[in-house]
Formats: sequence, C-alpha cells, structure tokens
Amino acid sequence: MSALLAFRGLRPAWVGFTAIAAVTLLSLFLLYSPRLQTSTSTTTVPDPVNHIIADSTFGEARQDDVGAMARAINETSQYFIDYPLQPPFKEHFGELGHRSRVLRDWIALADQTRDPTIKAQISDAIERTAISLYPFLEKPKETPVVKGNVADLRASFEKGSAAVVIPTSDKTLRFAAHLVGTLRSVHNSTLPIQVVYAGDDDLAPDNRLRLAGIVESGPPLEFLDIMTVFNDTTLQLQSGGWAIKAFAALGSRFEKVILADADAVFFQPPEVLLEHEAFVRTGALLFHDRLLWKDVFPVRNEWFESQIRHPGPELKKSLVWTERYAEEGDSGLVVLDKSRLDILVGLFHICWQNSYAVREETTYKITYGDKETWWFGLELTGASYEFSKHYGGIVGWKKVDKEKEKVCSFVIAHVDAQDRLLWYNGGLLKNKGNKNMQDVYDVPTHWMVDAEWEKGAKQDFSCMKGGKVRALSEREIAVIEQSIDLAKGLDKVILVP
Ligand SMILES: *[C@@H]1O[C@H](CO)[C@@H](O)[C@H](O)[C@H]1NC(C)=O
Ligand SMILES: *[C@@H]1O[C@H](CO)[C@@H](O)[C@H](O)[C@H]1NC(C)=O
Ligand SMILES: *[C@@H]1O[C@H](CO)[C@@H](O)[C@H](O)[C@H]1NC(C)=O
Repeated sequence: MSALLAFRGLRPAWVGFTAIAAVTLLSLFLLYSPRLQTSTSTTTVPDPVNHIIADSTFGEARQDDVGAMARAINETSQYFIDYPLQPPFKEHFGELGHRSRVLRDWIALADQTRDPTIKAQISDAIERTAISLYPFLEKPKETPVVKGNVADLRASFEKGSAAVVIPTSDKTLRFAAHLVGTLRSVHNSTLPIQVVYAGDDDLAPDNRLRLAGIVESGPPLEFLDIMTVFNDTTLQLQSGGWAIKAFAALGSRFEKVILADADAVFFQPPEVLLEHEAFVRTGALLFHDRLLWKDVFPVRNEWFESQIRHPGPELKKSLVWTERYAEEGDSGLVVLDKSRLDILVGLFHICWQNSYAVREETTYKITYGDKETWWFGLELTGASYEFSKHYGGIVGWKKVDKEKEKVCSFVIAHVDAQDRLLWYNGGLLKNKGNKNMQDVYDVPTHWMVDAEWEKGAKQDFSCMKGGKVRALSEREIAVIEQSIDLAKGLDKVILVP
C-alpha cells in the first residue's frame, strides 16, 4: 500500500500531468480548429505542444492529430484507471475534481467528433474512466447497458424537461405532503413533481399512495425508486439520510431539476426558479446558509483551502472562503441544469462526496450532511454556479429586546434576485424542532436579511438583529395562510396511523 503510494507520487504524477496537459492542449486546438470535422491527416501540432510531449513515439502522431488525440486520451484514461484514488479520500477531493474536468472535456470532444471510429475510441475511454472515478455510475446488473453507463444516463434525461424533485422517506412524509399540496393547490404550479425514495422500506407503498392522492390538478405525481437507477451496495442510500439528494438529482429523468427538501416552504411558484437570472446564466443556482461562526471551525476552512487550488469567481465572493465563516450552503433547495456538461460532471463529484465510504470518512465528519457538497463539487470540477446573493435571512416574528428590534423563528429564509421573499426551510410548523409543538402552526409576520444572527440551540428559535425589520406583504401572508390551511387538512389524511 505505502509502496504503491510512494510510487504513485513519482512517475505517474509526472506522466499524468504531461498527458493531461497534452490532451487539454490538443483538445482545445482540435475543438476550435476548423479542420476537426474534415481532416484526419494533415494538421500540424502547434509548437507549444511539442516541448510538453515527452513520449518519443508521439512525433509520428503529428500526421494524424485526431488519432493522436484519441491515443493520448486513451493513455490518460489508463493512467486514471491504473492509479485510482484510494482512501483516505479526504486529500483527494481536489484531485478528483481535476480528473473530472479532463473527463468533461473528453465528453465535449466526443460529442463534437463525427468520425465514428475516433468517437467510439474516445467514448470507450470516457465510459471506462467514468466508472473508475465514479463506480456508482455502473448500473445495477438487472438494467441493460445500451451504449454505455454514462451515455445511457445522459440519454435518459428528457430534453427540455424540468421538475420539482423531492426526496422523502416515511419520516418526512408529512412535510412532503405539505410541499406537494401547496405547490399544486396554493401556487397552482403545473411543473411535474417527482418523489424520490430508496426502496419500500424507505417510503412504504401505502404512503406513496397517500402522497399521490394529494394531487388534484396538473400532471400526476411521479415516483422514482433510486435503487432502480443505482446499485446501493456502495451508497447505502436507504439508511443514508441526506445522501439520497444528490443521487435523486442525478438519477431523475428530468433535465432541469429543482431539488427541494420536504420541509421547504415556497412564497412563489417554483417556476420562477427556472427563470432566475443566476440559473439561466450558470445552470446551477444555490442558496447560502446563515453567516455564522467566523474562525470557529478552522479545520473545515483549512480543508477547503487544501483542496481548492484555483478558486473560481463565485468562491472569491464567499465569506466562508475570504473571512473563514463556517457555513456556506443551505442545500434545502438546489436548482441544476443537467443538460450542461459542466454541471452534470460536477454532480458526479457531488454524488461521490455523498457515497457511503466518502461521507462516513470525511464529508459528514468535517461538514454537516450534504449541505456543502453542492458548491464544493461544482467548484472543484470547474463548473459554473451562482449563489443567491444574500446569506440566509429569517422570516418569523418581531421581538423587542432592550429596545432593539429583532426577528425570531426556527427557519432560514431566502429571497429572489429582486430581493422578494422566495422560500424558507424548516416547514410550516411554528417550530419544527420542538417535540411539544408538532401541531402548532402560525403565520409569520416579519423578516430580515443581511444582519447579525443570535443562534439558538438546535431545537430553539434563533433571531436576527441589527438589520431592517420588514413586514410580510399581504400576498406573502395570504400564501402562508393558505398553505397552513391546506397543511392542517392534509395532516388529517397523512397522520392517521
Ligand atoms: C487503449 O489503451 C489500452 C491499454 O494501454 C490498450 O489495451 C488499448 O488497445 C488502447 N485502445 C486504443 C483504441 O488505442
Ligand atoms: C452491486 O455491486 C456489488 C459490488 O459493489 C455487486 O457485488 C452486486 O452484484 C451489485 N448488484 C447489482 C444488482 O448490480
Ligand atoms: C390558484 O387557483 C385557485 C383556484 O382556481 C385560485 O383561487 C387561486 O387564486 C390561484 N392562486 C394563484 C396564486 O394563482
């Protein structure tokens, strides 16, 4: 093991980086070369490439750039496969991100290559490499592979489609019912809704029936058993809590995925998320957590820094990155466009972070659940993404303390690009965290963003102070009133033993 690692540190790294550099340069050159689609023989490799290439047989390849490129891809692919990233995984998040960027560029190249032989060669390298980096992409045995695991997965996304995807188990059934009900009957959304679960032991068949019965208009509720898409052996999603979320986003047949926790509460119809300028721009819209605990978890910040060598534009704006706050992402709502290759490959990385061995060893130890895996995976794979501008705010009730006004509640609130309330996590109950308040509903009256948190204990209210106390608009109050009325009605159906 240690001999392997020592060896790995010397030759393969050198060969690998050389190969990656060569493939990247060649890929870029060929991708943008007008001759790509027509020429198979006469293009000359530009000089900068020559002194990077160390392989003596490579000179002959100049006569056949496309073939040379396919061979270089094959070499790099074999290198990735022969030297897989081994535990401890903690140190490999960054390297997996870089390998994934290479994989992404190969897929882009294969998509553009018309020569069937070359295309097949590159596609073969893509499939082999993808399974090596991300073993969970290998379909369960009973599902036939048509073109390849990755090719079939991409082909399973219905072009131009979008849906709200809600992972839920029996435990969160009540909140999932509230969410499904309000989306359809309060917001009158006609987007498809897909409920994702991990086998009958996760979400019982009769509970699926109850959920399906809630929907009165629009397309019927869809269900996806994630175990039909992914082999659960290395994932353990059935008992994995949050871990199912990333796989639900990846396994969904919908191309644009609005992934919502069961306890998300919407002020606006989910359709607006698909029009959100940040989503349209980048294909990935994320929301920030509360800005908390500056310099309190240095191990976490140091680990982020150890894995990210080249921070992208979004990370440079992050206060977790620049000022060492502790919490970055609230993954209660994530919007992804899988038709964009960078997002799809980023999602592979996010899934990997949530796979059993990795989450047990590192992800869920250094950070809290899946919540940081989204931006981290996109950042590490060089995908574009944007956070909604503000760190998490609050919607709740006004309180006056030592003549200072605050807003207090159990939830984290988020606004849209025009700073209007969009959604909050934590459900419609007044305090979801308090066992004695499981039937107490109350319509919030005030909200605040960009101010200072007073964090309560896990089951208690938190408050935000020092910012502008704003009242909910009549429309916002009406939405929550209607949602609560609906939830109370649904409780009578859902909470019967
Ligand atoms: C790719 O590399 C492998 C291992 O080096 C080799 O067996 C295979 O023939 C190569 N494939 C192509 C198409 O060059
Ligand atoms: C799932 O993967 C394991 C190895 O990780 C394998 O033994 C098992 O046969 C696979 N099951 C299916 C249904 O593919
Ligand atoms: C949703 O539809 C109902 C019934 O048709 C209507 O009363 C309500 O105003 C609609 N809500 C919105 C937000 O359009």
